[in-house]
Amino acid sequence: MELQFTAILASVALGGAVVVLVFGRWWLPLADADRRVKELADAVEALLQLRSELLKEEPAPESDQTRAWLRRVQEAQDEVASLKARHDGGQLYVFRLVQYFLSTGPVAGLAEQQLKAVRALREQGSALLETALATPQAPPPLLRQPEELELQPETRSARPYINEALRFLGDCDASLGVWGAGGVGKTTVLKQVREACGLVAPFDHVLLIAASRDCTVAKLQREVIAVLGLRDAPTEEAQAAGILSFLRDKSFLLLLDGVWERLDLERVGIPQSFGMVAGRVRKVVIASRSEAICADMGCRKKIKMECLNEEDAWSLFEANAGDEAIHRHPQIPALAKQVAAECKGLPLALVTIGRAMSSKRTPEEWADALDDLKKSQLSSAPGTDKNTLSLVKFCYDNLESDMARECFMACALWPEDHSISKDELIQCWIGLGLLPAEFADVDEAHRFARSVLSVLETARMVEQGDNHRYNMFPSDTHIRLHDVVRDAALQFAAGKWLVHAGVGLREPPREEALWRDARRVSLMHNSIEDAPAKAGGSLSEAQPETLLLQGNRALPRRMLQAIQHFTRLTYLDMEETGIVDVFPMEICCLVNLEYLNLSKNRILSLPMELSNLSGLKYLYLRDNYYIQITIPPGLISRLGKLQVLELFTGSIVSVADDYIAPVIDDLESSGARLGALGLWLDSTRDVARLARLAPGVRARSLHLRNLDGARSLPVLSAQHAAEFGGVQESIRELSVYSADVEEIVADARAPRLEVVKFGFLNKLRGVSWSHGAAPNLREVAIGACHGVAHLTWVQHLPHLESLNISGCNGMTTLLRGATDGGSAAGELVTFPRLRLLALLGLPKLEAIRKDGGECAFPELRRVQTRGCPRLRCIPMRPAASGQSKARVECDKHWWGALQWASDDVKSYFAPVLI
Ligand SMILES: *[C@@H]1O[C@H](CO)[C@@H](O)[C@H](O)[C@H]1NC(C)=O
Ligand SMILES: *[C@@H]1O[C@H](CO)[C@@H](O)[C@H](O)[C@H]1NC(C)=O
Ligand SMILES: *[C@@H]1O[C@H](CO)[C@@H](O)[C@H](O)[C@H]1NC(C)=O
Repeated sequence: MELQFTAILASVALGGAVVVLVFGRWWLPLADADRRVKELADAVEALLQLRSELLKEEPAPESDQTRAWLRRVQEAQDEVASLKARHDGGQLYVFRLVQYFLSTGPVAGLAEQQLKAVRALREQGSALLETALATPQAPPPLLRQPEELELQPETRSARPYINEALRFLGDCDASLGVWGAGGVGKTTVLKQVREACGLVAPFDHVLLIAASRDCTVAKLQREVIAVLGLRDAPTEEAQAAGILSFLRDKSFLLLLDGVWERLDLERVGIPQSFGMVAGRVRKVVIASRSEAICADMGCRKKIKMECLNEEDAWSLFEANAGDEAIHRHPQIPALAKQVAAECKGLPLALVTIGRAMSSKRTPEEWADALDDLKKSQLSSAPGTDKNTLSLVKFCYDNLESDMARECFMACALWPEDHSISKDELIQCWIGLGLLPAEFADVDEAHRFARSVLSVLETARMVEQGDNHRYNMFPSDTHIRLHDVVRDAALQFAAGKWLVHAGVGLREPPREEALWRDARRVSLMHNSIEDAPAKAGGSLSEAQPETLLLQGNRALPRRMLQAIQHFTRLTYLDMEETGIVDVFPMEICCLVNLEYLNLSKNRILSLPMELSNLSGLKYLYLRDNYYIQITIPPGLISRLGKLQVLELFTGSIVSVADDYIAPVIDDLESSGARLGALGLWLDSTRDVARLARLAPGVRARSLHLRNLDGARSLPVLSAQHAAEFGGVQESIRELSVYSADVEEIVADARAPRLEVVKFGFLNKLRGVSWSHGAAPNLREVAIGACHGVAHLTWVQHLPHLESLNISGCNGMTTLLRGATDGGSAAGELVTFPRLRLLALLGLPKLEAIRKDGGECAFPELRRVQTRGCPRLRCIPMRPAASGQSKARVECDKHWWGALQWASDDVKSYFAPVLI
């Protein structure tokens, strides 16, 4: 009772005090002190930041000035700390109020004084930092001398330039220009520097970026983002901010190839001020045909690349033509020397012409070739573009067949310096009808096309390109044309082709003359958003046969109106051109079309009028945004020539009704033959119907969903081979999404299966995949299958290149031991071809191997992890011979907490921390 009374009294007193404080505005001076102390704390924070920057520049300060400044900063820090302690000591207002009146000087006043002092210190510090930055500092000495390195033998003739470029990494200059004629070997130098720089000087990141003609900021940004493995941002500014904040505190080497004009690297997001900055080395190498451009980009130091002297030229030529070809007959060496001399010391020509001559057998053939070369070069001065043009022409004429020549030419339809995916290129060749027509199926055509590609590669008419997905530079999956070779190819086709690809066009070219006789037109990867208003305009007289518009993401409807009279068109590519909902009916007027690519758009339905295109052989509608695209009954059977119908969608989209049945009805009733079919299906019955149509109809890509609530997936099972054999034989790509299946048994032979994706299979408990069932499986992706606890079966896939596991809440280890079909403890598990490993959102994943054993990933190039908090170790054993580094895209804290078997293992990973 008494206690309660006291409590009430106390509350009333306190309440009164609060009322007095609030309404009496007693708190004003206190709030003022709070504000000032906060201000002071911020200022000190900034001062300390400045100090650490300065210490990075001058770890052991030399000047008295700097030392005195550092001492005063220390004193200021101490004083402020005691002031803050006094201020924070009284958190209760009443107490602080008392303190306010009793203390010798009000805190606010003291804080204000200190603030002034701190600001003055900051100004002095900034001045000191500026002086430190302005004094050029040499980067740390080279780890090894460039001369000691072993480089690829074919780069021997460029060796002096490579050495000089590598030495630049250890000197005071921030930027280096490498300049010289096209084909002289600038790109080779940059590529070798990229390969070898890690042995000479440590950089966090090395970026080789092709700038090429008409390069835009956005294009450069895309390259940088792809090379670094950063996330895309929607606008140019946001991209720049992302790149800047990533690179700001890193040391990096930027190699810019093929620069044609001054580039604004600041807008791209590359941190400015190169050289030694805050203890980090930032360097840039610019390769250009023009010395002035190098100077314009701020290179004080420059290397001029010259053509080779006679001796070096001969050995490069000899290496490419081959000893055997040269010594086949005693008369040949003398002729060969003359042929080599015609190359005027230009490495590109020595290599390609050397290759071209390697197949010549008799002295007569050599003499003829020499005549041709001399004739073609009469009119041009050595080292000029015209001269190189005639050298490339010689090699082009020497290709083994018209088909090889045509296939080579088609590569020039892509933008300059573009890495072209081999699969995409081959599809284009097939669509253009460049390959012989008699192949039984698409796989056979692809195999044949690969042999043509290797002819072009051996002749060095094409070179290896980059694969960003696999972080491989260069890679065996992509090719590229040397810009000199591409220029030459476009010259051969002058007047007959119109190629303005990847040059940032906002509307189609207006010059009528360009269009008039153009048979092949490529305007791909531009930003065409406007087109002539009147039907046609400059296009009205044009009658091309091939038109490539892919990658113009907002192609206006007007453009389609302008081209609907192109009735000679046989090949039209409109992949990713922003078609929304309604099918563009203008296409139905192009009655001679054989190849039509409308992939990656948002088309709701196909019109019956599409049957107008009676010659259509290839219809690609892959990765359409809507899976439930409506296809009118009877349409497919009216397209009597159709060989490829691709309606496959890899992504997960909303559930749909049974729209696809008409297609199968059509195929059944018409007895059509399709070399390749891609579809999505939602009942097992439809799969069986499809299987019965084999081998006339080959199902290559299937996306299965729903499956009428079936508990198991019979499509890959040997037990059901009688029903599904036709599909098992032909399937290349299989996705199973959103179904009730509890188990997947894959023990039937599926010789062509390369890609499987399982997603949203909530009831799936496990996958039993027999060894050797799908010997060519390359890619496995599993997402949102929460009942799956491990994926031991993937360790038996000898061709596995890409493994992507996401959002599987039940997964505890990736691979289990012998009892679950894995390896015995202590045995090494090898993934001989794995290039990409993604582990995303696996909250329970604790280990790659349950027994803690090791794995070998000799080809690993890219690891992506996010949301795997319990995974603490990548149990990798490095391959015996120098393995390339793998890029790891992950969270900073995760990376920091990883445990490593040794520093050696750690050194195989290059983290990109987000
Ligand atoms: C079908 O082709 C004819 C020409 O053969 C053309 O006149 C007609 O407009 C086309 N139909 C559609 C819907 O485009
Ligand atoms: C056409 O579409 C397919 C997908 O259906 C795509 O992979 C291909 O790259 C596209 N372009 C060419 C030139 O084939
Ligand atoms: C792996 O799959 C997830 C989910 O489908 C996707 O978001 C991610 O980009 C994929 N990773 C790679 C490297 O392809």
